[in-house]
Amino acid sequence: MPNQSEQLSPGTALITGADRGLGFGLTQELLNRGWTVIAGRNLDWHELKELAPKFPQTLHILDLDVTSQESADAAAQAATSLISHLDILICNAGINRSAHINSIREDQNYQDILDELNINAIGCLRVVKAFLPLMDQGNHKRLCFVSSEAGSVAASKRTGWFGYCMSKAGLNIAVKNLSNDLTPQGYEFRLYHPGWMRTYMRGTKNMAAELEPEEAANFALKHFLSPEHIPLVLRDFAGKDYPW
Ligand SMILES: NC(=O)c1ccc[n+]([C@@H]2O[C@H](COP(=O)([O-])OP(=O)(O)OC[C@H]3O[C@@H](n4cnc5c(N)ncnc54)[C@H](OP(=O)(O)O)[C@@H]3O)[C@@H](O)[C@H]2O)c1
Repeated sequence: MPNQSEQLSPGTALITGADRGLGFGLTQELLNRGWTVIAGRNLDWHELKELAPKFPQTLHILDLDVTSQESADAAAQAATSLISHLDILICNAGINRSAHINSIREDQNYQDILDELNINAIGCLRVVKAFLPLMDQGNHKRLCFVSSEAGSVAASKRTGWFGYCMSKAGLNIAVKNLSNDLTPQGYEFRLYHPGWMRTYMRGTKNMAAELEPEEAANFALKHFLSPEHIPLVLRDFAGKDYPW
């Protein structure tokens, strides 16, 4: 477990895709540590609703579909009536529809590829765009992005997974450019590979994977909440940095 005294002091956080998997683990863990959490949900899963009565003052559930700027803007507008500022934003929402495609010789589903790009890469831009005014008022000004080793061009050994890999590589360059723009304005960035998790990316909970989402959330928060300045790298749960 990370030493919490070496972490950013509790404040306000936004998490996208907070209704299950890693996003739900991050939500639960931040609430337990005294943070106020704006939890963005897409579909209506039961976990968040069940958590709500435990944190009536500090958990705020808002509809946030990252494929829509209107949805992101509406969530940011609703958040303004709940909090005066946002300290960290965790862009976590993501899909993987291409993990079963391992060669260009197989049939490709280009709509799935477009959806992966739309949610995993462009979705983060929509959310940052919408919430930046609240972040500008924040104390920590920390933008965190859940990417994947699958987005590393230099480390890739895959022969397929086109949409997922392209979307995470796209996210990585987007984060690099955001950091070029916003670091001089006081922002700090985290770009992260959370490991192979027992989450729901393939529809049902993947019990073959290595990490429970709660465990993965603890590793992620160690990196997201560390107080030191870290130059932009793609770091994983074990502290390993991936090449771009
Ligand atoms: N699982 C792994 O092993 C692994 C490895 C590396 C990186 N990652 C990354 O980790 C992040 C979290 O994934 P997970 O493993 O926790 O998968 P998950 O259990 O499937 O959770 C994904 C979350 O993203 C949300 N989401 C999907 N489409 C959305 C949309 N249009 N708008 C808003 N939210 C949306 C989902 O909500 P709805 O179901 O309500 O749509 C869900 O809450 C993703 O970025 C993923 O790429 C996962």
